[in-house]
Order: sequence, then structure tokens, then C-alpha cells
Amino acid sequence: MTAFVKIVYGERTFELPVIMGSEGEKAIDISKLRQKTGLITLDPGFANTGSCKSSITFMDGEKGILRYRGIPVEQLAEHASFKETAYLLINGVLPTRKELNKFSVMLNDHSLVHEDMQLFYHNFPRASHPMGILSSMVNALRSFYPELQTLEEEINITVTRLLAKTRTMAAMSYKMSRGHKVVYPRPDLAYCENFLNMMFDTPVKPYQIDQEVVNALRVFWILHADHEQNCSTSAVRIVGSGRVTLYAAISAGIAALWGPLHGGANQAVIEMLADIAESGGKIAPFIERAKDNKDPFRLMGFGHRVYKTYDPRAKIMKKMCDTVLPRLKISDPLLDLAKELEEAALKDDYFIEHNLYPNVDFYSGIILRAIGIPTNMFTVMFAIGRLPGWIAQWKESMDDPNWKISRPRQIYTGPTEMDYLPIDKR
Ligand code: SDX
Repeated sequence: MTAFVKIVYGERTFELPVIMGSEGEKAIDISKLRQKTGLITLDPGFANTGSCKSSITFMDGEKGILRYRGIPVEQLAEHASFKETAYLLINGVLPTRKELNKFSVMLNDHSLVHEDMQLFYHNFPRASHPMGILSSMVNALRSFYPELQTLEEEINITVTRLLAKTRTMAAMSYKMSRGHKVVYPRPDLAYCENFLNMMFDTPVKPYQIDQEVVNALRVFWILHADHEQNCSTSAVRIVGSGRVTLYAAISAGIAALWGPLHGGANQAVIEMLADIAESGGKIAPFIERAKDNKDPFRLMGFGHRVYKTYDPRAKIMKKMCDTVLPRLKISDPLLDLAKELEEAALKDDYFIEHNLYPNVDFYSGIILRAIGIPTNMFTVMFAIGRLPGWIAQWKESMDDPNWKISRPRQIYTGPTEMDYLPIDKR
């Protein structure tokens, strides 16, 4: 039996259906609101507005739950490979051994980048941010691989190309930013190992693959793989709704992720911790600044639009810091500072009242530093992890028979009608 809400507006009463998701979430379906009442809704930042129905990722912000296609992220971080997780998100089921092998072969087959694309890198200024380069290079893939993306087969190849080449392009941008020779992907290395080798192998010092580092990268990418309708995923869906190519939609997602309030926060957290360390390591002034609404400073890596409790990914990340760093014989003073900052914030009434807890970005930079990733590539690492989620969400929206171009309404608050004034009369 369909539930309804009643809206009383002036002399009239309207009924709008309430829909319910598989986890009991409820929404008022307002798709006929304007037609019935002449009214629209207004919700800056869409904090109360659902953009779609989706069967990919479930989050419960109050309970700190995150599941990909129903599987808790904790179990995937414990047992799955990143490739398996990507396959699960994109195809909706975990792959059989045969399917996973086929997927691996396709990823290897498509992992090289057209040699002419290296010319692009040479023409970016040396100090270009790797996120700006990555967004441009992903968009440029369309010029090198102009195949249509209509048939299932064509879409699958484009998806595999993106998963395989984005990782290669990221490593290329690092090597070329240092003036080093590009290292090519190797068919004998799995996804994470290949990336690390492309990043750190050099003719004078061959890269020694350390399974501890590989495992940390695997977990890092699994934890970032999808997160329902966040800012960058919404950008992918909105840009994709114009029926652009998948490359263009993903390029828009990378651009959206770059922001310090979103994926750029992992770089901003490390820069914030380094500032605290440089100013003598006293955290109290930074906590006070974060609480001062007149001060634009925020505690980076804290707070979340959905999680009003500890981000489950931050829990895993923090635990990983305590296991990976000692095993790699690394002690990072910024980790101690991060823990001190967390402890102080979680005791502070302001953070408690605002439900501000560490999010995925708070500890992730410590792991990336331990792996040897340069700070300006932290958000690129987030983008590589989020790629399967963006692709899955794009595919789901393209396959939705009710999907239409995204075009929100507005409430106009500008001047009412007025005439043009000739310049001598202004
Ligand atoms: C990611 O959406 C996703 O799922 C994103 C993500 C993903 O996987 O895709 O999880 C990845 O982007 C994580 C978030 C990374 N960003 C940061 O760590 C930047 C710092 N955090 C914030 O700027 C903020 O918490 C956001 C952007 C994450 C969420 O902002 P909201 O939901 O719009 O909340 P808000 O800005 O309206 O803040 C509500 C209140 C405000 O105080 P009041 O004006 O109500 O008194 O909380 C305060 C804010 O000032 N507040 C903070 C704070 N975050 C919110 N105060 C100090 N420090 C902070 N970090």
C-alpha cells in the first residue's frame, strides 16, 4: 500500500507518494510537485534531496555503515582485491575466478597509453597540479579512442580502458614531473603492484615490491571506491546526463573531487598537520580557530555531510596506520599529531554538538606518505580509487529508463522587469 504525505497549500490539499528503499530509507516523490501545485522545492547543497534511486552503495550516516552492493566495506578491505571490488561495483556481483581472470587480462591489454599523449605532459608547466593534468588527460582519451559508447561491448572496452589507463597516466605524470623516464606497465604485475612499480622503479634502483605496501594501497583504494551521491559522483551523473562520453563525465568527476572540501581534503589534512608541527605542535589554537565561525579555517579531515559518527573508512585507515608504519619501520610525527588532534576534538563540545568526527581523509594521507606518494598526488590516489564507483554510477544512470538530463529549477531573486537604458542616460 503506497504511503502519502499531504501538503496543505492555501485552500487546497495535495497528496504526494512516499517511496521506501530496501534499507527502509523513505522519500517524498516530488516528481509531480510543480505540475500539481505550481511549487518547487529549494534545498541548497541538496542536503535533504535525493537525486536518484541507486543499488550500488548503501551508507547509514548515523550508524557508520558503508556497503558496496550489500557487502560491508570492512569485509572487502579484509578479503577482496581492488580489481574484485571494481568488478563488483561496476557489474553488481563479485566475479567468478574465470570472470576475474578475463577482467585482469583486459586491464593489462589496455594499460598502455598512446605514445603521443606523452607530448601533452611535456607541455604542462612543471608545477602543474597532477589533478589538473589527470582531468585533462582523461578527457583527451576521447580524442585517441573515439569509438562510440552505445553497444554494451563498446562501453565495456571504454570502462576497462579508463580503469587501466588512468592508473598509468597518474604514474606517468609523477615520473615526468620529476624529469624521469616513464616506466611502462608490466603484464606480470597485478593492478596495485603495477602502479607502485610505474611510480617508483628507476634504472638505477629497481623497485622492490613490498607486500605490506601493496596491501596498504589495496585497502586504500577499496575504501575510496564508491560513496553514493557525493559531490564528484553527482558531477559525473549530471555531466553524464547530457549524454557526453564517459571520458568527459569522469573528467568532470576528477575536477569536482579536487576541491579541498571534498577529495582535496587528504592533501589539506597533511598540510594542516605540517602547519601545526611548524608552529610548535600546539593544537589548541587550531581547535579554537576551527570553532570560530568568523575564521574560515576548518579542521580538515573532520566532518561529513552524511556521517554523523566516525566514518567507518577512517576507522580502518587509522588502524592501518598503526600496523603498516611499524612494519615499514616508519615513525611519522604527523600521525602522533593527528591522534592528539582527534582526541582533543572528540572531547570538545563544539565538535560533539556538531557531530564532527574524522572522515576518510583524516588518516589517509599518513598511509600515502608511508607508501612514498608525494602530497600533491594524494587526491589523484583518491581519484584512482573512486574511478570504479564513478563508472558504476554513470552506467546505472545511463541504464535508467527514467533518466533524463539534469536541469534543476531555481527561485529568482533578481530585479523585476526594467527597460534598457541608452549609455548616455545611465
Ligand atoms: C569527502 O560526500 C561524501 O561522501 C564525500 C567523501 C566521499 O567519499 O566522496 O566522503 C569524501 O569529501 C570527505 C570530506 C572531506 N572534507 C573535509 O574534511 C573538509 C572539512 N570538512 C568540512 O568542510 C565539512 O565537514 C564538509 C564539507 C565535509 C561537510 O560540510 P556540510 O555537511 O555542508 O556541513 P556544513 O559546512 O554546513 O557544517 C555544519 C556545521 C557548521 O557550523 P554552524 O555554521 O552550523 O555553526 O559544522 C561546522 C560548520 O562550521 N563544521 C566544521 C567542520 N565541518 C563542519 N567546523 C570546523 N571544522 C570542520 N571540519
